[in-house]
Amino acid sequence: MILKSLRTYFNNSLLGYYPDTEIESFFNLLSEQILKMKRIDISQNLYAVVSGKKYDKFQNAIDRLKKYEPIQYIVGDTEFYGLVFKVNPSVLIPRPETEELVQWILDCHFEQSEESKLKILDIGTGSGCIAISLAKNLPNAKVYALDISEEALKIAKLNATNNDVDVTFVVADVLNSTDWNLVFENLKFDIIVSNPPYVRELEKEAMSANVLNHEPHLALFVKDDDALLFYRNITETSQAILKSNGQLYFEINENLGEHTKELLVNNNFNSIELKRDIFDKDRMIKAIK
Ligand SMILES: C[S@@+](CC[C@H](N)C(=O)[O-])C[C@H]1O[C@@H](n2cnc3c(N)ncnc32)[C@H](O)[C@@H]1O
Repeated sequence: MILKSLRTYFNNSLLGYYPDTEIESFFNLLSEQILKMKRIDISQNLYAVVSGKKYDKFQNAIDRLKKYEPIQYIVGDTEFYGLVFKVNPSVLIPRPETEELVQWILDCHFEQSEESKLKILDIGTGSGCIAISLAKNLPNAKVYALDISEEALKIAKLNATNNDVDVTFVVADVLNSTDWNLVFENLKFDIIVSNPPYVRELEKEAMSANVLNHEPHLALFVKDDDALLFYRNITETSQAILKSNGQLYFEINENLGEHTKELLVNNNFNSIELKRDIFDKDRMIKAIK
């Protein structure tokens, strides 16, 4: 089939499943991966023949997109804070809101990075996007990252290697304080950051099929009656492993900003700042021990 016809077939197959602009962007992403052609190359090669395995890959992508599988899992990677990250269904696809959290940390710490070797811990690292972006942009920092999922950590380690940074990855359960104490017995951190699971079961209804049916529930959901479970555990354990004047950063549930703030106040954290994302939602919080 020629490329021009393949594009028409691709568009028609996904019509009604996604908006036109999204279908076009899927086609461009897949062409870049399968045919090594950028958008401009496509328009210049409309009569090139696409057959065999290459055609099969487009067909496979169409079938998976019809099941609302995220394009990032189909292509196998995504971009975050200017870096490329491998992703598969064992890790959450990094979100733009989380880039804002990374930016906030870098804005607060960039100037200190030269002299003071910051020790940073990322909790619930998933693909490693936060830890790796910080390590890349704070080359003097010593970055640690933990997750309960060994499968996620495999991807995170690969991402650290591919992005040429040194991050120490640890398997641990953040809800089990014995686990924590063993891992970080002799360490005190300057910065602890986490984007933990924070979506309540009651918020599932508002979520789209591609998230709900394909992204790891372990990374997303908490019970309705204990939505701040992770925040409480991390905040309490931070009392022991965060240096005094150390900083704690969280990405948060947009509906629970004030509750999260209260939790930090009750745990004697100071200078608490709640920050909105570009969509004007309460999305991150910073506190000083
Ligand atoms: C919302 S995802 C964040 C992933 C990544 N940091 C990001 O921002 O894209 C939460 C992560 O917490 C991990 N997690 C869930 N329960 C955990 C636990 N009890 N202990 C440690 N990590 C946990 C999940 O495996 C998942 O990778």
